[in-house]
Amino acid sequence: MPRLKKQNIIKRPRRKTTPLQTVKGMRDVLPKEQFIWEHILNKSRKLCEDFGFQKIDTPILEYTELFERGVGQVTDIVEKEMFSFETRGGSKVSLRPEGTAGVARAYIEKGMSRWTQPVKLYYEGSMFRYENPQEGRYREHHQFGFEIFGDGCSAIDAQTIYLAWKIFQKIGIKNLAIQINSIGCSECRPNYKNLLTDYYELKINKLCVDCKKRLVKNPLRLLDCKEDKCLQVAAAAPQIIDHLCSDCHDHFKNTLEFLDELELPYVLNSNLVRGLDYYTRTVFEIWSSGPDSSGRQSSLGGGGRYDNLVEVLGGGDVPAVGFSFGIERIVKKLLNDGRGLDKKVVKQVFIVQLGDAARKKALKLFDKLIDSKVSVGESLGRESIKSQLKIANKFNSKMALIIGQKEALDGTVIIRDMESGIQEVITMDKVIVEIKRRLKK
Ligand code: HAM
Repeated sequence: MPRLKKQNIIKRPRRKTTPLQTVKGMRDVLPKEQFIWEHILNKSRKLCEDFGFQKIDTPILEYTELFERGVGQVTDIVEKEMFSFETRGGSKVSLRPEGTAGVARAYIEKGMSRWTQPVKLYYEGSMFRYENPQEGRYREHHQFGFEIFGDGCSAIDAQTIYLAWKIFQKIGIKNLAIQINSIGCSECRPNYKNLLTDYYELKINKLCVDCKKRLVKNPLRLLDCKEDKCLQVAAAAPQIIDHLCSDCHDHFKNTLEFLDELELPYVLNSNLVRGLDYYTRTVFEIWSSGPDSSGRQSSLGGGGRYDNLVEVLGGGDVPAVGFSFGIERIVKKLLNDGRGLDKKVVKQVFIVQLGDAARKKALKLFDKLIDSKVSVGESLGRESIKSQLKIANKFNSKMALIIGQKEALDGTVIIRDMESGIQEVITMDKVIVEIKRRLKK
């Protein structure tokens, strides 16, 4: 290859360009964090498979109507938080703000009601909500979730909560609390909503601006406002469990009995209503018992029963229940608890080279080692042997395989034991066998 003469290199004036950043509320997951993500996902996937779930992927983009009908027109998510736009063909679509509606759509569209019931599916992926970004709240976040379609029995509610709990235990999260409530069904909830509205109308002057709107649009959500003054009003509000119809009452009672049987610790929380409209009967969240930096307790995951969703989306009468958690929140929780899963990268051997001829041999040897399933590190761009040996130490390598100019010519390799410093010259064709022998020791 011809060498470029210095005088032939044209020096262009350096232009200063503004570096680009991530879109507001979106973040990179850097390699250091990937270990924790893999740990969380591997434990979750394994448990779901053990419990008989199968994986499903649904598109990130769905018709906006799916969320309007599924999640509900008068929810914060649909009213203010969706990334929605029109395609070139004029279709109204949205980036999914959550996973349940998409999985329910797939259940209907793919005829899963003809499969053996219940159909148990799990999923993982990005969700998008145009929220005010803050710690633990992003515009793109990732969820792991699972859904069970075709079984209305309260034992399934308990099993859902049990699986959610078990996943968190396996991941290694401590100090958790299960918050649980029943929000009734289309028979008993309207009556309760009226009672609640009557109660809040008398207290309207004590409510925040948002709650004044909720009173008209979505009274159940009044119970879950986090403003101090609204919390005081909510504390004395009528409780839905006192107004459940007998079927919902029995369902809730049985769910709690199953949870007792499974020895799961739970807290009855009559103000827990969840922010999505599809829920019926059991709703629950798993909270980290310590307050977050804003002084509040934070929800790591949430779910519940949604017996009408499939019908609302155009399918049959299919009861369902599910749960999902935000991966970013779990990562944060593990790190806050001091559970750094900063796994050290270990390479069994490290190739050290000196000069271009040696580099060529090193490239080939690297490939051979990988094919022989030996974990191998290199730093082909480096010149100094000393700096390459330093990296080998960082990777905790047992051996360095040194190829200098002489070795490149001779077809040999120096095997250096990193602990004792003892070196031995060996021919290239025997190197793999010798390394494997030494690694076995
Ligand atoms: P969700 O409570 O809206 O429920 O979200 C589930 C979890 O996602 C939350 O508990 C939280 O950990 C995480 N999350 C939500 N929004 C954000 C955000 N902006 N930034 C970071 N993390 C966030 C659902 O989405 C339902 N689909 C759950 C479900 C499944 N219900 C039945 N099946």
